[in-house]
Amino acid sequence: MPGAELEIAFRSGARTRCVFEAGALARLDELCAEVGLNGTGAILCDARLLSTQWREPLLGYASTRLGPPVARPVSEASKTLGEVEEMCDALAARGLQRDGFVVAIGGGVLTDLGGFAAALYSRGVPWVSVPTTLLAQVDAGLGGKTGANLRAGKNLIGAFHQPRLVVCDTALLATLPQRERWSGLAEVVKCALLDPARDARGMPLLDRCERDLERAAAGEVDALEPLIEACVRYKARIVAEDEREGGARAFLNLGHTVAHALEAATGYARFTHGEAVALGLRGTLSLSRVRGMLDEAAFQRATRLVGRLKIAADRRLDAAERSAALPAMARDKKARAGKVRFVLLDGLGAPRLLEVDAQECVRALEASLA
Ligand code: GLY
Repeated sequence: MPGAELEIAFRSGARTRCVFEAGALARLDELCAEVGLNGTGAILCDARLLSTQWREPLLGYASTRLGPPVARPVSEASKTLGEVEEMCDALAARGLQRDGFVVAIGGGVLTDLGGFAAALYSRGVPWVSVPTTLLAQVDAGLGGKTGANLRAGKNLIGAFHQPRLVVCDTALLATLPQRERWSGLAEVVKCALLDPARDARGMPLLDRCERDLERAAAGEVDALEPLIEACVRYKARIVAEDEREGGARAFLNLGHTVAHALEAATGYARFTHGEAVALGLRGTLSLSRVRGMLDEAAFQRATRLVGRLKIAADRRLDAAERSAALPAMARDKKARAGKVRFVLLDGLGAPRLLEVDAQECVRALEASLA
């Protein structure tokens, strides 16, 4: 990517600089200094990165103020408060001071946990997000939602803690398994349905997805980079307006009410997050159509695109999983006073947050799995 960047100024006064640059990992120390992080840092990284070609650059930071990376073997199943405590213990063992900062390098689970550790350690130290998966680059790595899961559900504890810097190094995607690329593309398609408007390179995002989806899944950089930049610019616009999800930020949860329920009902082990989102989008489109909010042409167009997202997992739920999914929807963070709130589409690019009843929840779940 030709070194694009943007700055998000939040109403809370927080600022995040986002850098998109292939190879930016090599400039991490310098980029941190440019945003005023001049103390001693500590890198928390996904242990899997140390068995890829990124091992050498990461270990190379041992001789700098960032020190040797603290490698954590994280997964959705270990996205717990216990893991956050382990991370904070590692920061303390490093002697991280209040003028220090945390650099979280990894996928969405690692950046959520690392950002949460930064929010808690010493009652909050600055942090830098370096998302290494497509999913984290287009969504989780930006916007300051940090946290962990509880037994009762996904992301039920956490803090809003904006990263000072987000570094999207597209070269990091080269070692990503294709299933993970498809997972990230589900969030890209979600953005395209929410905001099909022209991207920075002048093309509507929806058209670009329709044209380039398979090439992006194959890792072709010229297909991936404009999609990433468009999604980050869209999300940046939304979170700058609504940092704490009092309004428009909830739209980013399109497809996620069903997705989180599917993940919880299958023990966070069967579907990647993006696969669950792709299924959730199907249910959401169907519900929007049944309510007459989407006309047939828009429904068909969106359904065709969502149907191209590859799902490697078996989508058949057994009876126990099926009956666990509905209460999980009711526990969704957006539920209020017993009503499940869904983001539905009142036309492409026109999301609305609406209450749905139990029968509609069943219908959305069935349509997701059909
Ligand atoms: N992943 C949705 C959000 O950041 O609000």
